[in-house]
Amino acid sequence: MWKRVEKTYASLRNKVDFKPQIGIVLGSGLGAIAENIESVYSVPFDCLQGMPMSTVEGHSGRFVFGYINRVPVVVMQGRVHYYEGYTPQEAVLPIRLMIRMGVKALVLTNASGGIRDDLDTGDIMMITDHISLVPSPLIGRNDPSYGDRFPDMTEAYDPALKEMARAAAKKVGVELKEGVYIQFTGPNFETPAEVRMARAMGADAVGMSTAIETIAAVHMGIKVLGLSFISNKACGLSDKKLSHLDVQAESRSVVGKLSSLISELVVLASNK
Ligand code: HPA
Repeated sequence: MWKRVEKTYASLRNKVDFKPQIGIVLGSGLGAIAENIESVYSVPFDCLQGMPMSTVEGHSGRFVFGYINRVPVVVMQGRVHYYEGYTPQEAVLPIRLMIRMGVKALVLTNASGGIRDDLDTGDIMMITDHISLVPSPLIGRNDPSYGDRFPDMTEAYDPALKEMARAAAKKVGVELKEGVYIQFTGPNFETPAEVRMARAMGADAVGMSTAIETIAAVHMGIKVLGLSFISNKACGLSDKKLSHLDVQAESRSVVGKLSSLISELVVLASNK
């Protein structure tokens, strides 16, 4: 796997010589956030050797390089999920690649189902911690030049970045809720019983990504901020049936709010 990361990195460097400071992963329906960056290049995933491909609708699968408020960033439009049939190690390869490109911090966004009573459709929840029900992407041989065999996860979501996100949200007038995110494998939505289990375990919102990406980033010593858009109440907590189309439609409605929050945050994070 580490060789594959290096091979994909070499293939990327044959195409672009851009040094991003911050990496941003856009979740379901949030791809339009990339339109708000001053884009310099974009590289479709299928141009990169060894790169796993996103197969989900609403994820076009490319890296966009450019500037947000003059800060060099790489935006991943279309993530790779475990449920697409990739291993956890493959699913986090793009994260490792962004870290190899030189990013110092990662902003991971996703859409999720709200479990906690006050988390409603349209809310943004900053992830304070996670529970992963997916095998760790660190299973397998460790290369100590990338990170420790047994990384500590006490502060998986960086306290300083969380403070900056609170400040950024205040400045742009966006209400930022906070809570614990749980990653199920998907691709089916959870059952009502599973949602009750997740609540009992201490989860506030449920989704199908992000936790394993955070693990890969923490392993490589990179700071992570997680922003989860609540696209629906989790299964069994409202009368509505869940559909990916609704998730995408709801997500599109939050693009403006999330873009302004990220733009402000990127400036604060780059000055650190
Ligand atoms: N469950 C899992 N993933 C999701 C949900 C959900 O309710 N909403 C958006 N992504």
